[in-house]
Amino acid sequence: MESIVTATYAVHFNEIAYLQLNEHLAESSYSKIFVLVDENTHASCLPTFMSQVAVANYEIIEIVSGEENKTIDTCTGVWEALSELEADRKSLLINLGGGVVTDLGGFVASCFKRGIAFINVPTTLLAMVDASVGGKTGVDLGPLKNQIGVINQPEMVLIIPSFLKTLAERQLQSGFAEMLKHGLIQKKNYWEVLKLISSFDAIDDLIYDSVVIKNKVVLQDPTEKNLRKILNFGHTLGHAVESYFLESENHETLLHGEAIAIGMILEAYLSHKLSGLSELELIDIKTTFLRRYNKVDFSSEDIKIILGLLKFDKKNSHGNINFVLLNKIGLPTIDEQIPDNLYAEAFAYYKE
Ligand code: GLY
Repeated sequence: MESIVTATYAVHFNEIAYLQLNEHLAESSYSKIFVLVDENTHASCLPTFMSQVAVANYEIIEIVSGEENKTIDTCTGVWEALSELEADRKSLLINLGGGVVTDLGGFVASCFKRGIAFINVPTTLLAMVDASVGGKTGVDLGPLKNQIGVINQPEMVLIIPSFLKTLAERQLQSGFAEMLKHGLIQKKNYWEVLKLISSFDAIDDLIYDSVVIKNKVVLQDPTEKNLRKILNFGHTLGHAVESYFLESENHETLLHGEAIAIGMILEAYLSHKLSGLSELELIDIKTTFLRRYNKVDFSSEDIKIILGLLKFDKKNSHGNINFVLLNKIGLPTIDEQIPDNLYAEAFAYYKE
């Protein structure tokens, strides 16, 4: 698989990933190498990964897995570990894990001594097709998603799809929601192909296609002034749903992809009402997501709290909540505002 070149770094796949990493390490004279893992990637991915990496010495820093640990406190723990282990400005942090590890690790590296180099090695489908690519780094603020962070690019991203064998089906489905999103916002053909996927056993080519789609968008608007906002389709309501479930004691936490799948159905409904998405495509989107992701029961109290969380969305400006909607599958529109009465209709449509 050919490497995908971004503005400042490359995304390498499979055996080329290891070759490129070893070449980079040989050329770069890093003072120390740190590998950030959680308990799952420490056990399931680190031994395989390090068996291919040509370094004699490295330090492992482990954080506890889970979105609830994507916090500034966890960052402080990693910064303290780096400091105790005498990391300096020429140190390298390799983030080996899912979206929490790559987002948090990228942020830790970007701030430590005003910035050290980092490399992302995503081990979940979600991190391979979305979180690890594009330079968004950061942590949550309480239950509010990704409120603190910076955009800063890694030295390289290494995608090794065999790590997906260590993942549960639910995690794979969660990542797949971001791939379906790529079809909805950029390429109807891709959406049609993805709809038919029933097994995640051989999806290397599709991971590649998703990274190409994301990279094409990020290349045109790396700091999300305009076009990059389209990558947030489903995320305005989806993040609010995810935050609510993260904090609520009455509900089980949803995985990111599960929450944005709900967000994409709701925002497809809004697209049908406001920006021309046909009823046929709306039904197609709803049935596709509900075939993969269990329907969640929302009470009117849940919906009220979820809508209250919209004011924290990162795309908001001048008091407006800005949505990404679809004119049709493959054609998004940004900075759309929603009349208040349509939110309840959207949830009613999701529930019916
Ligand atoms: N996850 C959306 C973006 O990277 O812009």
